[in-house]
Amino acid sequence: MRTLFVVSGGDAPGINTVLAHYTALATAHGDEVFGAQGGFAGILAGQIEPLTPALITPWAGQSGSYLLSSRDPVLKQAEARERLTAALSGHAIDNVILFGGDGTLRYVSPLLSEWGIPCIGLPTTIDNDIAGTEQTLGFDSACNYAYQAIDGILATGHALHNRIFTLETLGGNTGFLALEIAWGAGAHAVLVPEYPYDNDWLAERLKRTVGRHGYALLVHSEGIPASRTLAEDIFKWTDIRVRDTRLGHAQRGAKPSHGDRALAAHMARLAYQALRDGVRTGTVVVRQGKPLLHEGLLQGYPARLPSRDLYDQINGDER
Ligand code: F6P
Repeated sequence: MRTLFVVSGGDAPGINTVLAHYTALATAHGDEVFGAQGGFAGILAGQIEPLTPALITPWAGQSGSYLLSSRDPVLKQAEARERLTAALSGHAIDNVILFGGDGTLRYVSPLLSEWGIPCIGLPTTIDNDIAGTEQTLGFDSACNYAYQAIDGILATGHALHNRIFTLETLGGNTGFLALEIAWGAGAHAVLVPEYPYDNDWLAERLKRTVGRHGYALLVHSEGIPASRTLAEDIFKWTDIRVRDTRLGHAQRGAKPSHGDRALAAHMARLAYQALRDGVRTGTVVVRQGKPLLHEGLLQGYPARLPSRDLYDQINGDER
């Protein structure tokens, strides 16, 4: 069996771990593994290379992705189907394993399925916003990365008082990352794009928290409308020093955590087994905490929302 890995869209911690686990497993069984450099655009440009344990094992714990990704919508082009199937058959590729976020699984997987290309999708994004799975590859590492920054903020916040700290996480237009991080870190308030908030409420809450503890920690997603001006706004409303930290893309390039490495190992095994079993379209998902293979496309699941319960608890608790 000759399997091709493709990364489409934003990279995420854990991709290299999957590549290493899968390559070790497949080659031990006499199967061959390949990687596309540059997503589907790379395949169409003939950029397909063999992956071996000797090559990829040293990458297992590295951030980012050994395989270059791409967001070029080349599959929308006329004759993309012919060009893609020709490129795959040119390398005698039997099937594809696809790393991708919401857009990739929603648009690319159905296309490959319609074109008769066997494909297993691996939900991969730090944003954790894919309907039909509870956890995406990369999310756990992105949370862990934020805790390192927060530990530093809490240390200085405790030592020198009278400051409000804002911490902006990635997450695109979703708040899963910010909410989970705020919850785990015991933040004094959290703001996410999915739930509106009131400026006066926020100012009062932060002022009260500084009065009580000497500092306050507000975690917010990059996707809230006021994200870029929030620190200045809060200073105007409260007259308390505001110090903002933006995790930015350093968060996406976080070192893979234990949780993501363990998920990566499950993804590799489940994908390999599915392809050996002749599954033509599938996605590795996490349901009730358990990684498993979802046969067929991941369609028809209602969009997920960050937990309103956690949101209300973080913003409701007076600590
Ligand atoms: O992959 C998801 C994500 O990292 C979001 O959290 C972020 O908003 C976005 O991608 C940034 O994308 P880029 O900088 O690659 O356009």
